[in-house]
Amino acid sequence: LNLFTYDPGYLATASCSSAITYLDGDKGELLYRGYPIEQLAEHSTFLEVCYLLLKGELPTQAQKEEFEFIITRHSMLHDQMQFFYRGFRRDAHPMATMVGVVGALSAFYHEDLNIHDPIQRERCAHRLIAKMPTIAAWSFRYSRGLPFMYPLNKLGYADNFLRMMFAVPTEDYEVDPLLAKALDVILILHADHEQNASTSTVRLAGSSEANPYAATAAGIASLWGPAHGGANEAVINMLREIEKSDQPLSHWVARAKDKNDRFRLMGFGHRVYKNYDPRAKIIRKLANEILDKLPPGNPNQKLFDIARELEQIALSDEFFKERGLYPNVDFYSGVIFLSMGIPVTMFTVMFALARTVGWISQWNEMMGDEESRIGRPRQLYVGSPRRDYVPVAKR
Ligand code: CMC
Repeated sequence: LNLFTYDPGYLATASCSSAITYLDGDKGELLYRGYPIEQLAEHSTFLEVCYLLLKGELPTQAQKEEFEFIITRHSMLHDQMQFFYRGFRRDAHPMATMVGVVGALSAFYHEDLNIHDPIQRERCAHRLIAKMPTIAAWSFRYSRGLPFMYPLNKLGYADNFLRMMFAVPTEDYEVDPLLAKALDVILILHADHEQNASTSTVRLAGSSEANPYAATAAGIASLWGPAHGGANEAVINMLREIEKSDQPLSHWVARAKDKNDRFRLMGFGHRVYKNYDPRAKIIRKLANEILDKLPPGNPNQKLFDIARELEQIALSDEFFKERGLYPNVDFYSGVIFLSMGIPVTMFTVMFALARTVGWISQWNEMMGDEESRIGRPRQLYVGSPRRDYVPVAKR
C-alpha cells in the first residue's frame, strides 16, 4: 500500500522534466524558454512565440520569415472537412465541434504520422498551429449558419482569425488594429503554462504513441471544464447571473465565502499563483484600454461595470487576500472577448487556439526524449478485499 506516493491532483508530483516553460507561483513569474512573459507580451508576436516554444530559441529574421511562410501555407483546411462540420447540429457547442474536428485531422493528414521522425513531428506541429484559427472560426461560422471563410495569406495570424470569424463575403472587412493587437497579446499569454490539466492530458495521451492530432483533441476535451479553460465562459455566465439577479454584489461575495455553498467566484484563484498571476497584470491593462475605448451605449456596459466592481471587492476582502485568490487571466480574457464581439460559447475555443502551440511543443519534447515512457499512474486501492463470487439466487 505504501509503495506509492498518494498525491491526488498532483500537488507535489513532477510528471516529467521539461525545458519549455518555467513558472514560480510565489514570485508570480512566468518564463517561456527563459524569456519573461512581460517582455514577450510587449515586444514579440504570437507567431514568434510559437517558434520560440517549439524550437527553443527566438528566430533570426530569416527563420521568422520562413516560419511565417510555412504557417500561412498550411492554414487552409482540406475541402472535404467542410462536410465533417456539416455532420454536427448547428446548436452544438463549438468546443464539442473542436474536439471532433481536431481529432479528425489525423484522418485527413495521415501521411506524416511517423511520430519517431522529428521532421514529420514538426510538420504536424506546423499544421496544427496553422489550421487552428481556421478550425476555430469555422466552428463559429457553422453555428451561426454563416458561410465558411478561407484564410487570406497576406494577413497576420490574429487579423486572419478575426476576418474568418466576422467578415461577410459580400462586404469589405477591415480588421480593427487595436483588437488584432489585443488578440495577439492574449494568444501569447495563453500559449503555454507548464503541466496544467490539458497539457498533462496531451502528454498522457501522446505517451501511448497516439498521433498528435488525437492527443491534441484529448487536450481540448480536458481544457473544456470550468475549473480550467472553461473558466472564461463561466466568468461571463456568472456576471450575467449577477446582472439579472436583484441581489447586491455583496450577496454573491458572501456566497463565495460560504463553505456550505458550492458557488465560487469564477475567474478568481489559481492552483499555482497564490500571490498574483503575471498574465492577469498584463491582460488587466489591456482590458481597461479596450473598455475605455468602447463607444457609449455598449449592450454589455453593465456587465463590464459589475466586473470592475467585483474585482475591487475581491482585491480588498480579507477572505480572498488570505487565500491568495486574485483575478486570474480568464477573468479579464472573458471581458475582452465579449467586447470584441466574440460570443461566450467561443471563449474556451479561443483558449484552445492559443494553447495549441504549448500542447504540441510539449508533445514534441516528450516524443524526442529518450527517457519518456508511457504514463501510467498507480492508485491507492480503497475497495473491497478479495471475496468469492455469489450466484445471483443467493445474493
Ligand atoms: N471563489 C471562492 N473561494 C475560492 C475560490 C473562488 N474562485 N477558489 C478557491 N477558493 C477557496 C477555497 O474554497 C479554499 O478555501 P478554504 O481554504 O477555506 O477551504 C481555498 O480558496 C483554496 O482553494 P482550492 O480549491 O483548494 O484551490 P485549488 O488550487 O485546488 O483550485 C482553482 C484552484 C483555480 C480550481 C480554484 O481557485 C477555482 O475553482 N477558481 C474558479 C475557477 C477559475 O477561475 N479557474 C481558472 C483557473 S486559471 C486558468 C487555467 O489555468 O486554466
